[in-house]
Amino acid sequence: MASPSCATWAEIPCCIPPIFLCRRIASSLWQPYNPVDVNTVKAIYPGTFDPMTNGHLDLIARGAKIFDHLRVAILKNSEKSPLFTVPERLEMLTEATRGMDNVSVTTFDGLLVDFVRTEQAQAVLRGIRAISDYEYEFQMALMNRRLAPELETVFMMPAEKYSYLSSRLVKEVFRLGGSVEGLVPTIVIERLRARVAG
Ligand code: PNS
Repeated sequence: MASPSCATWAEIPCCIPPIFLCRRIASSLWQPYNPVDVNTVKAIYPGTFDPMTNGHLDLIARGAKIFDHLRVAILKNSEKSPLFTVPERLEMLTEATRGMDNVSVTTFDGLLVDFVRTEQAQAVLRGIRAISDYEYEFQMALMNRRLAPELETVFMMPAEKYSYLSSRLVKEVFRLGGSVEGLVPTIVIERLRARVAG
């Protein structure tokens, strides 16, 4: 019910006690303190990141522009046998995203949707480089939607120059002596070299 709109105090009906009016005005101004801002959108960008590439970084930068907070999440128990340990991948991603104020990096285990709920995030960010990515991503997004209908998956495209880039190709090219300069951040090149030297 709308509050009585009166041009002057003289117009307020004398049947409405002033104390009632004060409470009505106060309650219309008072908003409960809510630490989770309903207008804040947090997204999780999950992946294996073994290792992270400039394509991943490009997507992180794009995601950081549209989400209030972007949390990059490295899957801990992947079935793939990784080149880098989870702490190494965490370190590289943290270093490469330093300076991106609304980006943080973490790890997760188990179902992605459970992690997203724990984080109170609203969206999952995934990159689509080419049509070939689509089927796998589509399946994953729909399975995640079945498990967590409230969750949205948002797809973004990295810059065209990274459309052929993958962690798998980076590892293969490097292992066979090819240059991966410009395809991965410097910290990843250093770690790759250290891996070969060690
Ligand atoms: O970089 P990747 O390997 O393409 O990332 C895949 C990832 C980590 C996003 C996906 O495997 C995942 O979410 N794994 C967690 C387990 C899970 O929730 N599985 C069901 C997905 S529908």
